[in-house]
Amino acid sequence: MNATPASKVLDRVLVLEMVRVTEAAAIAASKLIGRGDEKAADHAAVEAMRAALNELAMDGTVVIGEGERDEAPMLFIGEKVGSAQGTGPKIDIALDPLEGTTICAKAGPNSLAVLAVAEEGNLLNAPDVYMDKLAVGPGYPDGIIDLAKTPTENVKAVAAAKGVQPNEIIVCVLDRPRHADLIAELRGLGCGVVLIGDGDVAGVIAVTDEDTTIDLYMGSGGAPEGVLAAAALRCVGGQFNGRLVFRNDDERARARKWGITDLNKIYKLEELAKGDCIFAATGVTDGSLLDGVKRRKGGTMTTESVVMRASSGTVRWVRGEHHKGR
Ligand code: FBP
Repeated sequence: MNATPASKVLDRVLVLEMVRVTEAAAIAASKLIGRGDEKAADHAAVEAMRAALNELAMDGTVVIGEGERDEAPMLFIGEKVGSAQGTGPKIDIALDPLEGTTICAKAGPNSLAVLAVAEEGNLLNAPDVYMDKLAVGPGYPDGIIDLAKTPTENVKAVAAAKGVQPNEIIVCVLDRPRHADLIAELRGLGCGVVLIGDGDVAGVIAVTDEDTTIDLYMGSGGAPEGVLAAAALRCVGGQFNGRLVFRNDDERARARKWGITDLNKIYKLEELAKGDCIFAATGVTDGSLLDGVKRRKGGTMTTESVVMRASSGTVRWVRGEHHKGR
């Protein structure tokens, strides 16, 4: 993991500043936890994240954001952010101010404010289509998982390397009708299937933490979320395969617009997030990765965040206390 050289450009972006950005988004979204209004929660997070990003002395470009310019007024793909346009370090940013809008609206687990940054050109400009995802945690031989193989083959390979039977493997999957065959195949092997309602960034990252007991992540979800999760795995280890899924010609055209020519390509970690990168997340609601924002007596709020960097492998857990009026 430490073979990635530190980026001098990223050295100029203060790592802990990234946490201030995700904290701001999480705090803003937290006011709408359980209020049943996805749009309002997302909007609050977007506004707060954008304002925080614009305070940073960088020449930043959103490469994964809220959508294309005509559909997202703020933090759209291509939007320039940062207060040092033309003079500061050129940084590409993948962001999701509120990953798990429905979770937040329903006060469920694992909604996050998340962000990944890298030097210009180092994050895949993924179109907003689905991505087939396959992830395993650190400590396995390189290439142990392969999206070109069947779920059964991947489970058996991981089980053999772990020294357990396939029916002892736990797989996290988004609970969607499109995954019915996948879930049936996994249950046919006797695997434990952890079904999540939303939030596959946290779902993928869960494979890196033995305490979650999750060995593998499988199934399709948003491609932007795939790049964000890949950036996290670049920092903490683990393997990831992603393949874009196109449902119609419009989606294929979007991909070509972003320079993607091989529509069936299986992307590995380095092809989604290259070189040095920084990943930061703050919990909005409680989850497997982070605690959510808590409002305490007197208006104090606490946040829990994580920030990590690929070149050093350093993972920092940050607990914030935010006092009203100070
Ligand atoms: P949002 O925050 O945009 O609502 O995304 C939540 C999410 O669950 C992602 O984590 C996941 O990648 C995607 O939606 C799955 O999409 P779908 O709900 O269409 O299956």
